[in-house]
Order: sequence, then C-alpha cells, then structure tokens
Amino acid sequence: MAKTAKKEELTEVTEAQIAVHWKEEGYYQPSEKFIAQANMRDTHILEKFGLANFPDCFRAYADMLTWFEPYRTVLDTSDAPFWKWFVGGKINASYNCVDRNLAKYGSKAAFIFVPEPEAEPDATITYQQLHTSVNEVAALLRGLGLKAGDRVTFHMPMVPELPITMLACARLGIIHSQVFGGFSGQACGSRIQDSGSRVLITMDSYWRNGSLVDHKANADIAVRTAKDLGQDVDKVLVWQRYPGKYSAKTPMVPGRDFFMNDLLKDHKGKNVEPVALPSEGPLFLMYSSGTTGKPKGAQHSIGGYLAYVTGTSRWILDIHPEDVYWCMADIGWITGHSYIVYGPLANAATSVLYEGVPTFPDAGRPWRIAERLGVNIFHTAPTAIRMLRKLGPQEPRKYKYRFKSMTTVGEPIEPEAWRWYYDEVGKREAVITDTWWLTETGGFLGTTVPAIHAMKPGSCGPGAPGIHPVIYDETGAEISKGSGKAGNICIRNPWPGLMQTLWGDRDRYVKTYFAKYNKDPRSKDWRDWPFMCGDGAMQAADGYYRILGRIDDVINVAGHRLGTKEIESACLTVPEVAEAAVVPVQDEVKGRVPEVYIAVKPGVPPSQDVIDRVIKANEEVIGKIARPKHVYIVPDMPKTRSGKIMRRVLAAISNRRDVGDVTTLANPDVVEQIRTMVQGKDTVTTREELPEDIAKFGQVE
Ligand code: WTA
Repeated sequence: MAKTAKKEELTEVTEAQIAVHWKEEGYYQPSEKFIAQANMRDTHILEKFGLANFPDCFRAYADMLTWFEPYRTVLDTSDAPFWKWFVGGKINASYNCVDRNLAKYGSKAAFIFVPEPEAEPDATITYQQLHTSVNEVAALLRGLGLKAGDRVTFHMPMVPELPITMLACARLGIIHSQVFGGFSGQACGSRIQDSGSRVLITMDSYWRNGSLVDHKANADIAVRTAKDLGQDVDKVLVWQRYPGKYSAKTPMVPGRDFFMNDLLKDHKGKNVEPVALPSEGPLFLMYSSGTTGKPKGAQHSIGGYLAYVTGTSRWILDIHPEDVYWCMADIGWITGHSYIVYGPLANAATSVLYEGVPTFPDAGRPWRIAERLGVNIFHTAPTAIRMLRKLGPQEPRKYKYRFKSMTTVGEPIEPEAWRWYYDEVGKREAVITDTWWLTETGGFLGTTVPAIHAMKPGSCGPGAPGIHPVIYDETGAEISKGSGKAGNICIRNPWPGLMQTLWGDRDRYVKTYFAKYNKDPRSKDWRDWPFMCGDGAMQAADGYYRILGRIDDVINVAGHRLGTKEIESACLTVPEVAEAAVVPVQDEVKGRVPEVYIAVKPGVPPSQDVIDRVIKANEEVIGKIARPKHVYIVPDMPKTRSGKIMRRVLAAISNRRDVGDVTTLANPDVVEQIRTMVQGKDTVTTREELPEDIAKFGQVE
C-alpha cells in the first residue's frame, strides 16, 4: 500500500537554520469506505479556507454553533495582537454542549465512564442526565456567590464529575482552570495563585495503576502553597469517588472543606438558565510550561474557541453523533478540554472517559474497552502508542473492535511507531491523522483532512483549513518548502482557537509569541503578527510539515511540556543543592525524559540521599511526570566564561554524543570528568545525528 518514494534530502545550512537529515516516507491512502462516510469530503476545502477568504471562511465554524445573539464582526484586530472573534455575538458553551442536544439525543450517551478497576461497571451518562447534573452543580456554584468572570481552580482526576463541573462553570461564565490531576499540590497551588481563584474543586481519591490514590492530600498542600504566595482559598469543594463515602485519609478542614455530594442535596432538580455571554468572554485558563519557572495561563475565549474545536472535531476527527469516540488523554491537558469535552459534545458525540492508565492491568486493556463499547474513533499520543507496542505488540489482534479513524497528538511520532499504529491498532483499515498543535492554539494547526489527504508517517500534514504556516529562519527570512531546511514554524494569520492572552500578562503574551517576527508593534494589520509556535519544523516539497520539537528550553515528556526552569528550581528546594541543570534525554517510551545534573554546596559530601531527595522534590513540586531518569552529582557545571551553564554540553553527554569543542569554556576539564561519570571510562558516544530538539537544546542562552 505504501508507495516507496524514499529519497535522502541533502542540506546545506546556515547558522540561522536547523539541519535536517530525514528520509522521505511513502504515502498511505484513506479507504473508499472511510471517504464515503466522512464529514468533510470537499477536495477544495483548503482553497476555500485560503487567505483570500480570510477571515470570513471561519464563519463555517461559527455557524455550527447556536448563538443567542448573532455576531456582527468576524475578526476585530483593533487591539492587535489580541484578536477578538465573532464580536457582538452572545453565546453559552454549556448550552451548545448540552441543552441543544436534548431534543434529538437526550437519551443517547454523552459520556461513558470506564473506571480503572476492571470489575467496576461502566457508568453511562446520557445528555439528559448530563443536563440535570450540570444544572445542579451550576446552582450550587451560583449559591456560593460565584459569577461570570470569577476563576475557579480544579485539581481533578479523569472522572465524569470533571466535565460536569467544567460545563457548570461555563453555564455561568465562571472561568475554570483545571490543573492536571497528576500534578503535585504545589504545582496546583502556584496556579491557584496566578489565577486568583478563591475556590478549589477536587476529589477525595481516584484509581491509578491499581491503587486508590489519596488525592485530597494535594488540596491541603495546594491551599498552603497558594497562601504562601499571597492567595487565600476560602473553600475546597471535594467530590467523592464513591458518593456518600469519604475515600481519603486526609481530614476535612471544618469551615473550608465541603463535600460536593452534601452541598448538592440542596440543589436537586434545580435549573439554571445558561447565561448569554459575549463571544470574546473567557471560557477557561490552561496553564502551560514556559522557559521561566512561572507557568503561563493560556486564556481561551468562549465563541472563538468553541467554534474552532467544534469545526475541527467535525472535519478532522470526523465525529458524527452516532460514533463512539474515545480520546485516551486526560482532560487536565488541553487535548482533553478541546477533544474530550467541548468539541465532541458540541457535535453531540458519545465520548468515552477512562479513569486509569492504558496498560492496567495489562496492555490489552484499551482494546478490550474498544471492543466492549464499540469505539470507532480512537485518539491518543505517541507515548501511549510506544508503550502499548512495547508491552503488547500482538494484543490488538485478540480483540474485535474496528476503528474507522485514529489520531495522534502531543509529540512527533516516529515512522516505526506510526506503522505499528496503522497495521496493528488500526488493522490497516483506519485512517490516521497526526495533529500538531499547542495548549495556546486551542485546536489543531497542522493535520491532514482525513478523507482528502494521503497520510505520511512522521509528518502532520499541511496546515489545517484556514491555518497558514510559514517557516522563518533566525533572521526572519522564509524557508521555502522542499529546501530540506528547517526553522521556526509560525502561523501567518489569526484563527478563532488561538488563546486571547496569557492570564494577567499581556506583555509576556506579545513577547513570547509575536515579538520575534513582528516588525511594527503598532500595526493593527494581522499580516504583521505571525504567531510563533516555538517548534522547529520543515516543509517537504509536497507541502507537508514535519515537526522537530520545541526550540526553546522546554522538555516534552510523554507529550507534555515541562519547563526546564521549573524542574531546576524544584531541585534547588533541596538545601544541599547549589546548582542544577536539566537536559532532555531520548527515551524509548516517553520520547524525552529529564536528566538532572546537580552541584552540591561546599562541604556537602555527594550522597545517594541527596539524589533521592532531588527526585522526591521533583515529584512533589511538579509531579511524577517530572521524575528525572538520572541525577548526577558533578564537581562543577560546565560554564561559559560569563558563568552560564552550558546545558548543550550536558545534553550531549546524557545522550551519548560527542561534546564537541569545549575549549572556550571557563572549565573545560570538568567536562571530561562528567563525561566519564555518565558514559564510563571508555568512549561510548554514538555518531548518530541527535534529534533536532535536543541538538538545539540550550543553544540560546
Ligand atoms: C508538540 C499539546 C509533533 C510540539 C496539544 C508542541 C507535536 C507541543 C504534535 C505542545 C504532533 C504536539 N507532532 N509535535 N502531532 N503535537 N506536539 O502545549 O512540540 O502540551 O509545541 O499541547 O507538543 O504541547 P502542548
């Protein structure tokens, strides 16, 4: 099926560009059967969404929604680059995801919740039941005095109560800020402080890898952390994993902590009218790591965001109301907000929620769930694909599910893993869309439209409809397609899914995403404001983009960005640590994992105890996801003469590469000491090219 059109691309690069050594992959075609049923079959769709029709082309997405009052202006650029979409329109996200589906799909499942313990039954929540629960929770929140514009932080696991509470907030215009459940209490606390939330909503416990985790303990740490940073939390609302029973050991704090299930008793059967909110009102915040320790709160709008995720769920994920759709991601990340909750529900989908880890109790679990529930659209990340392939390469064959389409998101997928996904998981029937995007972008940036474009392993495809990428080198010159060169990928135009700003930090928004390639900061013309994604990328001659990874000092672990500064500051919470540097290393399953180098304070003997506490500090401050693969105690960090730590050198050592010329360093001798410590006495470097994100890591100091 795959055409073999492999050719080596030769490259000659300047310092402003990134070298790419990549073999072209062959194409795979979608089946006739898939094409016949697809929502989007118009082969001219990318032309219709061409720049000549911008921004009006995006009416197609806005018109998929129900507006309380129609919008007057598609795109308002008067406060560039803070774009406003569908201005004048009044809308409610909760209404669009719940109420408007009642007439036709009231008794159809909105969510099917699959608990991690296999013996526990699924819970099906129909649109009618969802409507009832969302209204009761909205009544409860309103009863606490919360109103449009207030922020509420969630620290919730993957349970139906999470989307129910999100939709209850959306009904009133309360801005929700969900912190990934696996993040530590401290990480949650700093996000509470940044958003200025006075209410934290959490759950007592949840199942993870076979044990019932005491999650309430994190709430106490979060509240304390927020307080230390100057933000008081008045109320902690606690959902119960088993309603009516408290499943955590941590005591409830009288006057502060309340069980949701107790409070809800006063709101049974209540209805709360969805508030007609301005299109450009904020719907939620989603924090993401940046290069400094301070997380960035991407603020997403109601109208623009909802239009974008609804349109892309319909055309790219190809969701029909009759489908059983499973996005095996966590709602605590942007993928879950956009493509488990808002996009699918606005399309009246049946969306599967799975509580636990994909490989619990074994690597056949996802396929058993798919078979039992009749899942036909499956969405996951390369890290899960690699893990399932490693632990159970033959498992999918044992189960009779049939997927029509599959998606991948979060990091580049290696062609090898892609082919296993295609052959074994998709059984050579399902199309694969590789969707490239970011927390900040709300929805897909680079992807094929599955019934129209051929698939190419390792490449996400062209820009999504209405998304017009451009690749610049460091000087701002465009790198043309087919040149075999890579650079910084940007988007030429605004689109409705793009965040509105970073919460409370307009300057950082402009600086991080626009300043580099903007030539006139006063311009009100969107053409002057390309959006810089922060990824390295190249465009092949056929127009498909291949994403090389982050170009800033951010490590993508299992599809999730971790700020290096955040990890380094966590290490420095161990009093004996004087300096810390973190670098990404290649990992078979997770793609990249952090590896930590520390120097201890004078007089402190290096010990396993310090190493253990550094590991623990990372788990506590950030979460288990930040657990370093190794921690090395080094005599000194390799430094430039101006005293900057050369992370690039450490990254080369960690990844078994040659360190290159280090003679210009202030302390070249230490490099050899560190190298032998990590790689052993004999040289074990490989000549294999480093992946671009690691090669680039730490170069901009
Ligand atoms: C990476 C996740 C290659 C990329 C939605 C981006 C990808 C970062 C892909 C954003 C993909 C995401 N192919 N790389 N299909 N999808 N990335 O904010 O480096 O958690 O900048 O959003 O993940 O991660 P974030």
